[in-house]
Amino acid sequence: MRVSSTLSRRPRLLAALCALALAGIAQHTPHSIAEDAGNLYNTAVDIRMGERYFERQCSRCHGFDATGNDEAGGPNLTGRLRNASTDVGIFNVIRNGVQGTAMLPVAPDVPDATVWQLVAYIDSLRYDPSSVVLDGDAGRGADLFTGKGDCASCHMVNGSGGRMGPDLSRIGEDNTPEDLLLSMTNPHEEVAPRWWTLRVTGPDGELREGFRMGEDSFALRIMDEEENLWSFRKSQIQNYQRVEESTMPSYEGELNDSELDDLVAYLFSLRREVLPQ
Ligand code: HEC
Ligand code: HEC
Repeated sequence: MRVSSTLSRRPRLLAALCALALAGIAQHTPHSIAEDAGNLYNTAVDIRMGERYFERQCSRCHGFDATGNDEAGGPNLTGRLRNASTDVGIFNVIRNGVQGTAMLPVAPDVPDATVWQLVAYIDSLRYDPSSVVLDGDAGRGADLFTGKGDCASCHMVNGSGGRMGPDLSRIGEDNTPEDLLLSMTNPHEEVAPRWWTLRVTGPDGELREGFRMGEDSFALRIMDEEENLWSFRKSQIQNYQRVEESTMPSYEGELNDSELDDLVAYLFSLRREVLPQ
């Protein structure tokens, strides 16, 4: 599968000129919340500087390529951001942190220019989904999703489908086409604990299996294939086993390359918001 994308570059000249007029004042009010003056630090050199700073200070939580690090808890920054939808918003997140999370403010002595370079770098990673050219056909992908691929038996999209897998109504927003392909060909790669399976032999000696809906020191909760919920006290069960693999089958070899491309195009189109141009 080939994916090509071009970076979206919003026109910022006017905003930049306004910012220039204000620059003298801004210098004397360090680290105030940024006004919407656009990013003055947005050249190729700025992006590279931002990237270098990012690798040193941010990558341990957000991953070297900013696609996130599950262990450290830093989210993927290459798709739609939860806390910010504009450059100013991103600036403020970096300057002020996100309260109550591991996302701390940058040190007060880091100049605003550096923060803007980080914004420019993060911007350069986010692409305009409408400029992404995919080989597959989203319409054919939608047919495969409900038909031959049988994806809808487990996955909900916009209110219809099964509950044996995550709701995919907005799956295109946080995933690159490569991620989406991997989800289908290599489902065991990253499985969120919500989708692990527990096999519990209950007090009656009967084995029950289902998604791990809850687990603590005393109790287990599972949802079986018929969507029945079962609760067990750990002190009363005979034993249990946790399977950290996906219940989703791999489609590698099950569907051919062009069918997978069609599904990727369909999944990538599942988004509620389109990034601003
Ligand atoms: C100690 C780990 C850690 C470090 C270091 C860190 N971050 Fe974060 N960052 C997080 C976490 C966790 C969140 C998610 C906060 C939340 O729950 O909303 C986050 C959120 C963000 C967001 C908002 C993402 C969104 O979807 O809204 C941006 C932007 C961001 N970080 C940029 C940076 C930059 C730039 C740096 C380096 C200067 C950095 N972070 C350093 C942990 C970290
Ligand atoms: C038997 C049920 C089942 C079937 C059939 C199934 N899936 Fe899944 N799928 C899951 C489960 C469970 C997960 C969550 C665990 C994981 O990440 O593998 C998942 C995860 C995914 C993800 C990643 C979701 C995320 O939030 O990152 C995508 C994308 C996906 N499936 C697409 C598909 C497509 C496309 C098909 C059909 C070709 C399909 N699935 C068929 C059960 C299923």
